[in-house]
Amino acid sequence: MDKRLLVVGNWKMHLNASQASLLLHRLHERIKIYRSVEVVLSPSMLALQPLSIQIDRRKFRLAAQNAFHKDEGAYTGEVAFSMLRDLVHYAIIGHSERRIHFGETLPMIRDKVSASIRNGITPILCVGETITERRQGETNQVLHDQIATALHGLTAKEVANLVIAYEPVWAISTFGGQLAKPDQAQTAMDFVRKQIAGLYGKKTAEEIRVLYGGSVDDNIVSGYLQIPGCDGVLVGGASINYHKFSSIVSAAHKVASGAEEDED
Ligand code: PGA
Repeated sequence: MDKRLLVVGNWKMHLNASQASLLLHRLHERIKIYRSVEVVLSPSMLALQPLSIQIDRRKFRLAAQNAFHKDEGAYTGEVAFSMLRDLVHYAIIGHSERRIHFGETLPMIRDKVSASIRNGITPILCVGETITERRQGETNQVLHDQIATALHGLTAKEVANLVIAYEPVWAISTFGGQLAKPDQAQTAMDFVRKQIAGLYGKKTAEEIRVLYGGSVDDNIVSGYLQIPGCDGVLVGGASINYHKFSSIVSAAHKVASGAEEDED
């Protein structure tokens, strides 16, 4: 096995708890245990608890889509990272839908990243430029600012364990879903890793996992997974379709292992 790819399914605000349970069941039937692929499912907050009991931990890990940065207190309506520590392995932080629809700012995202790490949950930090920023030639600046703020105060060891998902806002299905060409994705992902190397050293930059996200489906996923330095994908819309998502996982297995024998 050459490397281990990460495939994350962001179910967004779809599926109630019983629908989520059914989807997990369908995925369990179709997805094998692959040493070459780590599969992470991110259902709604409501479904995390029941799915954490149902899930086969040899096959899947769970991720929260969001949480609040304080560990407890009078914050009506919020769920703390500290409450999720035994349920999830990862938390998606700074998704563009949260930045855009819920006004999450760079300092808020920084606080969430540190709360996540404090509670033993690995952040999947989402970064990416809007179409206007790209047209104005600001892509690198935007990525730089999003990353520098979010990682502020972390040690190189903590950064090495992180996941960063490059998700150009214009490629996300909900914001236009214009496909990014693999070479556009590669340029931005290389920039991310170069920035990490500059801030935390070469070893940290090699260890941190960098994913691609934005309208990835079973037909196009291999093109992104074959990008040198791409450690996996963050899948939104296609992740709630069990045919598509299980095909994405098989494609990742093929790319990662050169289609070795299946490992049951
Ligand atoms: P999409 O979403 O695959 O539907 O574009 C990506 C995401 O939620 O990160």
